[in-house]
Amino acid sequence: MTTTSPVLIRPITMDDVPGFHAALDTVAREQRYLAQVAAPPVDRIEGFVHESVSKDLVQFVAVATSEAGGQVVGWADVLPEWAQALAHTGSLGMGLLPAWRGQGLGARLLQACVDKAWAKGLTRIELSARADNTRAIRLYERLGFQHEGLKRRGMCFDGVYHDTVSMGLLRPDAGATA
Ligand SMILES: CC(C)(COP(=O)(O)OP(=O)(O)OC[C@H]1O[C@@H](n2cnc3c(N)ncnc32)[C@H](O)[C@@H]1OP(=O)(O)O)[C@@H](O)C(=O)NCCC(=O)NCCS
Repeated sequence: MTTTSPVLIRPITMDDVPGFHAALDTVAREQRYLAQVAAPPVDRIEGFVHESVSKDLVQFVAVATSEAGGQVVGWADVLPEWAQALAHTGSLGMGLLPAWRGQGLGARLLQACVDKAWAKGLTRIELSARADNTRAIRLYERLGFQHEGLKRRGMCFDGVYHDTVSMGLLRPDAGATA
């Protein structure tokens, strides 16, 4: 089933913690797309979102505004690496509740992340996706991500291995490569 109603893409706030936790948990429990198979406990999510909000990190939510109080139906984040030589890089994670896929919300979330990542000085965004996640890969390709490699047995669900693709996007004006 697909749901349509107005959806706002905006930076995450502390008020979004329960909704973000629920959305993450739902997508994780599909055991198909994300590396985790359930969301971490809500207090860990709270700490994670608190850090994100206080440091103004790149983390957006998609909120269906017709639901009472607004329902978090998806998220996307580009979280920076901490080590100095990797500090130009952010790792992308994203997901939408099943009923909200296939209507362009992924592109809106991703574009918001890319714009803010570049504005904050990152020059590279990277991700990995299960090689059979064609919808996600199509979206990344459409926004300019390039394939950088294949990890054999990159993920394992219930003892079954899956290859993953590595993809990356470079900020266009970000200087020279040695
Ligand atoms: C991946 C995800 C964020 C994409 O967002 P979305 O709003 O659903 O993206 P869309 O379906 O609008 O567009 C993705 C592209 O895949 C295509 N597509 C849609 N359904 C598809 C399907 N079942 N199989 C293959 N391609 C599909 C679309 O046509 C579109 O390509 P186009 O722009 O060339 O037409 C979302 O589907 C999702 O949350 N999936 C589950 C979680 C996930 O995979 N997270 C990413 C982990 S790396």
